[in-house]
Amino acid sequence: MTNHTAITIRRPDDYHLHLRDGEMLKLVTPDSSRDFARAIIMPNLVPPVTTTALAEAYKARIEEAIPTEHDFRPLMTLYLTESTDADDLELGAKSGLISAVKLYPAGATTNSDSGVKSIERVYPVLERMAEIGLPLCVHGEVTDADIDIFDREAVFIERVLDPIRQAIPGLRVVMEHITTKDGVDYVRSAEKDLAATLTTHHLIINRNHILVGGIKPHYYCLPVAKREVHRLALVEAATSADPRFFLGTDSAPHATDTKENACGCAGCYTSINTLSCLAQVFEDQDALDKLELFTSVNGANFYGLPLTEARTRLVKQDSPVNYPQTVDSSGFNVTVFDPGFPLYWKVA
Ligand code: DOR
Ligand code: ZN
Repeated sequence: MTNHTAITIRRPDDYHLHLRDGEMLKLVTPDSSRDFARAIIMPNLVPPVTTTALAEAYKARIEEAIPTEHDFRPLMTLYLTESTDADDLELGAKSGLISAVKLYPAGATTNSDSGVKSIERVYPVLERMAEIGLPLCVHGEVTDADIDIFDREAVFIERVLDPIRQAIPGLRVVMEHITTKDGVDYVRSAEKDLAATLTTHHLIINRNHILVGGIKPHYYCLPVAKREVHRLALVEAATSADPRFFLGTDSAPHATDTKENACGCAGCYTSINTLSCLAQVFEDQDALDKLELFTSVNGANFYGLPLTEARTRLVKQDSPVNYPQTVDSSGFNVTVFDPGFPLYWKVA
């Protein structure tokens, strides 16, 4: 095992991030803009970001929430619905405002009610996206009541994603937040136009962390964490230097009381400590030299963005870094993801 005490990498990007709106947006944006150069911003607001005009207005609200000393660029997405206007989407993409389109199967997760019920209805839009090279970001879970929640990703690949990719060759797809070995294997089976993001928390927790010794609502997210064998497959993929896997934190803030609840919301808040967590995960695999590919290179290459020129230095301290347990606004707070091990790596 190589012993590192510091590493320098290109400034990371986050290819899957929830910033929300209003007071929550103001609270959480600095935690991302501090450590990340760019982020793909999820559009599942209420109401969702379904048009170029809504995305432009949302981008302006995000920019207002970025502290002036932070260098951070939000990359906007559109929320795909059965009435998405392909011309509006193309204009948004060609103007440089829209970086991707997000597919939420209706009912799959937070604010997905306006999502897609019948995938064939959006094929014309997907065809347009293939023509113009605009990536589709996919929440890859079926929502059928008879499919076990732990199987929903694997079934989605077979019943929905593979048919889409066969029907629309050239469509560029990012499987967001994959949680299974099935997801890893499917990405690896594709010759081109397919990649996946991996979250910080899915590299660290398995389903036991949620359920053993009492229910842990702050580990509940969607797709739900799976068995350990799947987590190990994700860690292997992240640390393998394969260009098809890159970081999308899916940092998804919810007020603490809405997670510590009889019907708790899905999402882990990881923006603030993601780089510390990842450095530890990669160090444990003796793969710190692969961290930059995962956080700062593979995603940019997939999205056709220039690599970031700024550098981030991560330093390993002797004593654990003290992250707050919550980030606080007036009247609510958000609980910070607890990796369950001490964090010694810190952004210098
Ligand atoms: O855990 C999650 N939280 N998964 C998602 O897909 C959505 C996200 C949210 O918006 O809260
Ligand atoms: Zn998400």
